[in-house]
Amino acid sequence: MNHELTLVIDFGAQYSQLIARRVRECSVYSEIVPYTASAEEIIGRQPKAIILSGGPASVYAEGAPRIDPAIFEAGIPILGICYGMQLTSHLLGGQVTRAGRREYGFAQMQAEACPLFDQFGQELQVWMSHGDAVHQLPPGFVSIGRTDNAPVAAMAHFEKQIYGVQFHPEVAHTRRGTEIIRNFLYRVAGCRGDWTIASFIDEAVARIRAQVGGGRAICGLSGGVDSSVAAALVHWAIGDNLTCIFVDHGLLRQGEVEQVVETFGHHLGVRLVHVDAARRFLGQLAGVADPERKRKIIGNEFIRVFEEEAAKVGDARFLVQGTIYPDVVESGTATAATIKTHHNVGGLPEDMVLELVEPLRELFKDEVRAVGRQLGLPEEMVGRHPFPGPGLAIRVIGEITGEKLEILRAADHIFISELRQAGLYDQVWQAFAVLTDTRSVGVMGDERTYGWTIALRAVESSDAMTADWSRLPYEFLGRVSNRIVNEVAGVNRVVYDITSKPPATIEWE
Ligand code: XMP
Repeated sequence: MNHELTLVIDFGAQYSQLIARRVRECSVYSEIVPYTASAEEIIGRQPKAIILSGGPASVYAEGAPRIDPAIFEAGIPILGICYGMQLTSHLLGGQVTRAGRREYGFAQMQAEACPLFDQFGQELQVWMSHGDAVHQLPPGFVSIGRTDNAPVAAMAHFEKQIYGVQFHPEVAHTRRGTEIIRNFLYRVAGCRGDWTIASFIDEAVARIRAQVGGGRAICGLSGGVDSSVAAALVHWAIGDNLTCIFVDHGLLRQGEVEQVVETFGHHLGVRLVHVDAARRFLGQLAGVADPERKRKIIGNEFIRVFEEEAAKVGDARFLVQGTIYPDVVESGTATAATIKTHHNVGGLPEDMVLELVEPLRELFKDEVRAVGRQLGLPEEMVGRHPFPGPGLAIRVIGEITGEKLEILRAADHIFISELRQAGLYDQVWQAFAVLTDTRSVGVMGDERTYGWTIALRAVESSDAMTADWSRLPYEFLGRVSNRIVNEVAGVNRVVYDITSKPPATIEWE
C-alpha cells in the first residue's frame, strides 16, 4: 500500500485517535505513533504531514514527553495541537507559561487570513482545554489567532510550514474543525486525498490473495461488526476457501443467531458451520456468579469448541480475525491496569499453528462499517452497537440461568427496537438492558408482586475508553419501562443507569 501518509504523534492525548480519524475523514491515510519514535523512524516513513497531538503534561514538567527537534528541520509540514503547539514553541525557542487561569470550553478566536483559516472570516468558535499557553513566539513565527484569554491561540511559520493551534480542531465542539484539518492537509501539505473505502477494499483483497494463495482459511464469526466484515472481505477475496465457524454460546441477543445464519449462510453464500453449543456453555457457567470467572470459562470453552470444529475443516492454515486499529494502538501503548479481561471471541488458541489474516488492522470502526456496507452486509448488522464477546453472560448479574436469559433477551429487544423506532439508535454508542440480581416488591392489578429489576444502559462515547450516559428523553424511557413491565413476565421495576465512565464502566460486570 502506497498512500499519502500523515503521522499523528501521540503525547498521551485523550484525542489522538480522534485526530487520526478526522484526517482519514479528509481522505488522507493516517497512523498514530508514540512520541518515543525517533526522528529517523518518523522521517523514514516519508509522511506528507505530521500532527503533534495534545497531552496532559506541561512542557516544563519533569519527564514531560518530547520529540527529537530534528523533525522540524525535515521540510515536512507540521501542525501542533495544544500540547503539540506548546512543545513546538518550547523546542524552537519560544516561551510557554502557565496561563492566568485554566481555559476550558468555548472561545471566540480572531483568526488571521492564512492557509489554515482563509475561508472562514474572522471569528471562529473553538474548543479550548489547556493550562499552559504560548507567551512568546519562537523566532520566525507569527500569531494567526487570538482569544480574550490567549494572545497566541494559533501560530505559524509560513516558510517552514509549521503551524500550531492552542484549541482542539478534532473535537466536534470546534465548529469547522475538520475543515481546519483539511486545510492543513490540502492547502499546506499539498495532499491530494487518495484514501477511500473502495481503494482500501481493492488493496485488501489483493493482499489477502497474496497471503493465502490457494490455501484454506477459517474465521470465528461472533455476529459482531468486526468479525462479520472481516469474514465478508476474506470471502470476497478467496470464496469457498474460507469456512466461517459460528459458535452460538447461548448468550446472544434475540434474533441474532437467525440473522448471522441468514446473512452469511444464505445471502452471502459463505461456507458456514453453525455450532449450537448453548448447553455446553450454560452447563459450564451453572452456579458461577463472579464476572471474571464467567469470562474465563467462556474464553476457554470457546477455544475448545473452536478447535474441535477447526479440526473438522481439516487443512486450514489461516485464521481470519477482526482485529481493528484501536485494538492495535491500545495493545501497543496500554499501560493501564486490567479492569476487565476482555476476552476476544475468536482468540487464537496458543498451540494452534495457524497464520493470522487480519484485513481490518488499519481501520477505525466507522471505516469498518463503511467497508461492510460496500460489501453488501445488511445495515442492521453493520450499524450495530458493539457487543461483548461473553455476550449476555455479563449482563445477567450474578448466576446465569436459562430463565434469566429469556427475561433479559425480551427486555433488551424491547429497549433496542424502541430506540430504533424513535430514531435514537444511531445517536448512542451502545445501549442494552441488564438483568440485575435485585428483586423488589411491586403491585400489579390487586396483587403483590416480587419481581426482578431491569436496568437500562445507554452511553455516548467515541472509543469506549470513556463514556457519558445518554440523556434519553423521559417520555421515551417511560414508554420502554411500561412495555418491559407489561410484556416481560417476572420484571416489575425498570431503572435507568446515569453513571459515566469513569467512575463506572459501560458493562455492569
Ligand atoms: P467496559 O465495560 O470495560 O466496556 O467499559 C468497554 C467496551 O468493551 C466491551 N466489553 C467487552 N468486549 N469482551 C469483549 O469482547 C469482554 O469481556 C468485554 N467487556 C466489555 C463493552 O461492551 C464496551 O463496548
